[in-house]
Amino acid sequence: MSSAPAGRPWRTSASCGESEVRRFGRRHRAPVRLGFNRFILIALLTRGSQVSSLSPELQQVFKQHADKALPVRKAAVLGAGIMGGGITITSAAHGVPVVMKDIAQAQLDLGLTEAKRQLSRQLKKEKITQPQADQILGSIEPTLEYTAFDQCDAVIEAVVENLGLKHRVLDEVEAVVSDKAIIASNTSSLRIDDIGAHMKHPQRFVGMHFFNPVPVMPLVEIIQGTRTSDEAVSTAVTWAVNMGKTPIVVKDCPGFLVNRILTAYIRGFLKLVAEGADFEHIDKAMEAFGWPMGPAYLEDVVGIDTGSHVSDVISAGYPERMPRIENDAFRLLKSKERFGQKNGKGFYEYPPDDSGRPGKHSSPEAHELIRTIQPHGQKDVSVAEIQERMMLAMITEAVHCLEDRVVNSAEELDTALLMGIGFPRERGGTIRYADSLGARVILEQCERYRHLGKQYEPTATIRKLAQSGGTFYDAFPAGN
Ligand code: 3HC
Repeated sequence: MSSAPAGRPWRTSASCGESEVRRFGRRHRAPVRLGFNRFILIALLTRGSQVSSLSPELQQVFKQHADKALPVRKAAVLGAGIMGGGITITSAAHGVPVVMKDIAQAQLDLGLTEAKRQLSRQLKKEKITQPQADQILGSIEPTLEYTAFDQCDAVIEAVVENLGLKHRVLDEVEAVVSDKAIIASNTSSLRIDDIGAHMKHPQRFVGMHFFNPVPVMPLVEIIQGTRTSDEAVSTAVTWAVNMGKTPIVVKDCPGFLVNRILTAYIRGFLKLVAEGADFEHIDKAMEAFGWPMGPAYLEDVVGIDTGSHVSDVISAGYPERMPRIENDAFRLLKSKERFGQKNGKGFYEYPPDDSGRPGKHSSPEAHELIRTIQPHGQKDVSVAEIQERMMLAMITEAVHCLEDRVVNSAEELDTALLMGIGFPRERGGTIRYADSLGARVILEQCERYRHLGKQYEPTATIRKLAQSGGTFYDAFPAGN
């Protein structure tokens, strides 16, 4: 386990799957007293507290991974963009010094400026002291070379989503790191087996997928490729826990778990826009449903260029259900260099407010642009229809993920969406929400929206449960 940092000023939240808890209980003949939902509740309520405030059972589950993990005393992050910068500041803030490498000085400067901005926000809120801020900043070592990589126990690449580039970067990394170091990829859309295909030591290569904004979103998906060792998985899980995150181990498939489901949801959005629906109206409808941000605003935060690429790559992995969308709003905004918050304009405009944070304003220019890809003109779509179509797209893909065993159980799937993309807490998660509607209602909705494409077709489980009256939670229980 890595050494304890001098105070952990950043928010912390940790949890794990019930199956893990139960497996732990069976192995140690220990009574597992708390239900999984209580673990999640504890984890959610303890945002901002220490890992040690979690239940003893949970700490022991993490300890099992920690027992097999290699210590991460120093790390390296490749790429000082939004994600790389976020991982750097999160690791440094939790006591693991970081070498932050990029190929461009300007990008390194941006990464450091962002780190300073985050620290001064924490200072202003009196969440950290000046000496702590200095210590955190001092533990970040920006570099254009592979300086000190041989001293790092873990390296994570967060360079752009291009397979050829990732192969090149990993070749370079393998040549400079120590034999024991684990190498991780923060890929959003590429498969771990494909990225690690040419590696000399693929057993130490693992996926660690963080969510944006990294300092705030608690989830990290840990992806075990077919050649990844258990030791590399345990090291990644333990490092994530030490960064105050909630690691969930998922299967290596296009989009893994959360981005695969998010892509289905976002495609629901793109189709509505292409039909003539107003994107701000869609955002308001989804925020009224309980989402922290609507889909257009979310993509502006993620970055339209990144979001569009990720969504295209993942869609290509499921060509039957996710064929190319005509009149794609992302493609249009990207071609007009409206990349979202990162360059101040996307679906919305983001002039900085008094505190330097991007303010969000309606953009007449974006509305005018979007009208050019609405061949049938604008269309009033009711809030109920927007919510139904968007959520149905998400539910059907989530059920596909359970059928494909991307994650162990309905509860773990819900946890990932609660912690990775801020799924409305009061609704419990996508599958919990699906169960509240009932499979029969979902089947009716699938039939109503069937004309929209295969994405809305009911899966085998939806049909089966609609007939039997059973629930998804019973069909995909934890702990098996
Ligand atoms: N960096 C650091 N901290 C941030 C931040 C940022 N970019 N944005 C907000 N915060 C902090 C604020 O400082 C505040 O901290 P405090 O509690 O200590 O005061 C806290 O987050 C809450 O912020 P706000 O009150 O301003 O705003 P919200 O309550 O709306 O919360 C949010 C912000 C947590 C980002 C919330 O809107 C949310 O959950 N949004 C969904 C984000 C999401 O879905 N991310 C996943 C995208 S997909 C992805 O990343 C995958 C990739 O592969 C593409």
